Amino acid sequence: MTIQPTRAVQNLVPYVPGLQPRTRGYLKLNSNENPYPPAPQVSAALRKATNPQLRIYPDPVCTSLRSILARRFKIPASNFIIGNGSDEILRLICQAYIDPGMRIGMFAPTYTLFETLGQMFQANIITYPLEDDYGMPSAVFSSRVKIFFLANPNSPVGTFYPPQLMARLLSTRPRTLFVLDEAYVDFAPQHCLRLLRRFRNLIITRTLSKSYSLAGLRIGFAVASPQIISQLYKIKDSYNVNRLSQVAAEAALRAVPYFRRNIQRIKQTRARVRRELQNLGFRVPLSHANFLFAIGQQTHKIYRQLKARKILVRYFTSESHTPGLRISIGTEREMTTLLRTLKNLIRGDKP
Ligand SMILES: Cc1ncc(COP(=O)(O)O)c(C=O)c1O
Repeated sequence: MTIQPTRAVQNLVPYVPGLQPRTRGYLKLNSNENPYPPAPQVSAALRKATNPQLRIYPDPVCTSLRSILARRFKIPASNFIIGNGSDEILRLICQAYIDPGMRIGMFAPTYTLFETLGQMFQANIITYPLEDDYGMPSAVFSSRVKIFFLANPNSPVGTFYPPQLMARLLSTRPRTLFVLDEAYVDFAPQHCLRLLRRFRNLIITRTLSKSYSLAGLRIGFAVASPQIISQLYKIKDSYNVNRLSQVAAEAALRAVPYFRRNIQRIKQTRARVRRELQNLGFRVPLSHANFLFAIGQQTHKIYRQLKARKILVRYFTSESHTPGLRISIGTEREMTTLLRTLKNLIRGDKP
């Protein structure tokens, strides 16, 4: 007889990350990675840090990295915790705050990991379908949940909820802890960090995977009151962020002009691709992230046809909204290839 895991694990529908092909030759627009390489300073710092010191455990609390973040955002270093990607931070939050059966809230659709984590920690998950235009549903303002998870900009569409709206939500539900996932916020016009001064029921998570091109090194962080952050420190692995990732993150954060230029390029490409997708007949809601959501006829077929031509995008369905293709923003050339292939597929030509 096989020994069974916990009931929560038995029942768990695992999170499915975007396909990560092992062979070359794919145009990879399925995981919202950055198409540009990390700043040159990152490789230089990694080379320098690849030395005998690697035999020593890393700084367990990422002191130097937190002090850079503290200076950058003008928030004390004690309000930050660094994780092995922001996904680790999200899991720590669940482990620290969810008891089995507890009510947690989230939008539908949103980042699918929220639901997986809720199941893993046996939460009672209450979903709030977004409005037809992906706006925030008014029911959220009367939600009675202990924790509410939301991504801003949200996935898979890229909708952005402005800080004023977030402030209204936070002040209406002071007994709910809001986990605000700002993974894509560097591609948006504003962020919500300043709300941390006013609201104790807020924790913001960020990542260096997207805007800093460091998905391969796994660095994310959370900012909140020291009371909340200290709970997460209690349960994290001692050495959760390796030495090279810490060094790379510091170098990437210091390379400000490089970072700004890449954000600008991605935003420009996003605007062009949106127009061209619309010209091809897709409905493409405004996105403030590094991806677009294309809604149209036969998107599942198109998804499969693109995959057969080694172009990977993500096909998303939800109970409440029309399915569509989430397309990460690549380089100008990559997007030209995608658009050309789409055009041929739609016209029925052999691409
Ligand atoms: C909304 C959202 N949050 C977090 C993440 C994961 O970030 P990280 O690479 O830091 O774990 C993703 C990745 O796709 C995401 O879409």
